[in-house]
Amino acid sequence: MPLNSLNADVDMSEITHVYPILWREDHILLIDQTRLPREYGLVEIRRSEDLAEAIRTMIVRGAPAIGVAASYGMYMGAKELGEVDRATFLSKLEDVAEMLRGTRPTAVNLFWAIERMMGAVQDSREIQADKLVAVLLKEAQAIHLSDLETCYRIGEQGLGVLPESPSKLRIMTHCNTGSLATAGYGTALGVVRSAHRRGRLERVYAGETRPRLQGAKLTAWECVQEDIPVTLITDSMAAHCMNQGRIDVVIVGADRIAANGDTANKIGTYGLALVAKAHNIPFYVAAPISTVDFALADGSQIPIEERDPAEIAQIEGEPICPAGAEFYNPAFDVTPAELITGVITEEGCVTPEELSTLKDSAHASVR
Ligand code: MRU
Repeated sequence: MPLNSLNADVDMSEITHVYPILWREDHILLIDQTRLPREYGLVEIRRSEDLAEAIRTMIVRGAPAIGVAASYGMYMGAKELGEVDRATFLSKLEDVAEMLRGTRPTAVNLFWAIERMMGAVQDSREIQADKLVAVLLKEAQAIHLSDLETCYRIGEQGLGVLPESPSKLRIMTHCNTGSLATAGYGTALGVVRSAHRRGRLERVYAGETRPRLQGAKLTAWECVQEDIPVTLITDSMAAHCMNQGRIDVVIVGADRIAANGDTANKIGTYGLALVAKAHNIPFYVAAPISTVDFALADGSQIPIEERDPAEIAQIEGEPICPAGAEFYNPAFDVTPAELITGVITEEGCVTPEELSTLKDSAHASVR
């Protein structure tokens, strides 16, 4: 699909699935995910600093979407450098990369995309700054399009591992791993989408995902847009639903997967994996191979983002607890590999022990 068909001028009543990042000539438009579902608004981004701020404030979020957005951030930062020699260009581009790396620490796709963008200019023989800028734009668009294609493939691969019975499945998921979290279509929610399209979905149970409520605000919104049957539950209801026999399989996304399969994902994922194990329910992680960080031996080395305590101390700006309480607000947790039935990637589903077989594909996609 050409990028200019990821079009912002859409009639909301005809929307099928959404694209959170839209390329427009020389800038990007982001769906402002902080305003959904109340309001569908687009934010125009032209400067690398504004792009960094959009990632930090979660106007754009979700591991693959952050990676795609950061790629355009690198292009914008390069464009801002003006006419400089190649050495200056490379050194100043590293400053842009450093600014973008500082936005969110856990999702490895951010670092992966920046590395790929740096690699594109380093490998290029171009000397003139404007030519190097063009190289970066081409690379950002390649990352953007390939994420979309990767998500479709994850959806298809996921179909192959879904339990055969019952014929229509009740799938539990967490956070938002859909179109909004990627270039489009989604990872875990991409598998849900594919199951729905093939008549294999009874319904998806979406955990609300405190404190930012990505499940309630974003996943439920995406599902309703496409008539995917969705039941929203609070996070504390998950164990009860599994115990009641309402869930056939759990599928979540990932922000970073260590080489041994330990998986960082939205806070609450670890608890879901433990409860799924206790009820003998398969627990899958769906993610692109770019989310696997082969440099980290296990999950203890994954940096876990801590966010503003106000996210848990307030709801809609209103305090919900007495002054004097203290807060701890980790945005992610790490699910140990032994709780994970399989990792669904664009190349197929592997057990955590088999992840290393994907290493060559990972290198190939970095360049
Ligand atoms: O803090 P967020 O909203 O960026 O966290 C998103 C998640 O944890 C997703 O599950 C993960 O990025 C996978 S998205 C395909």
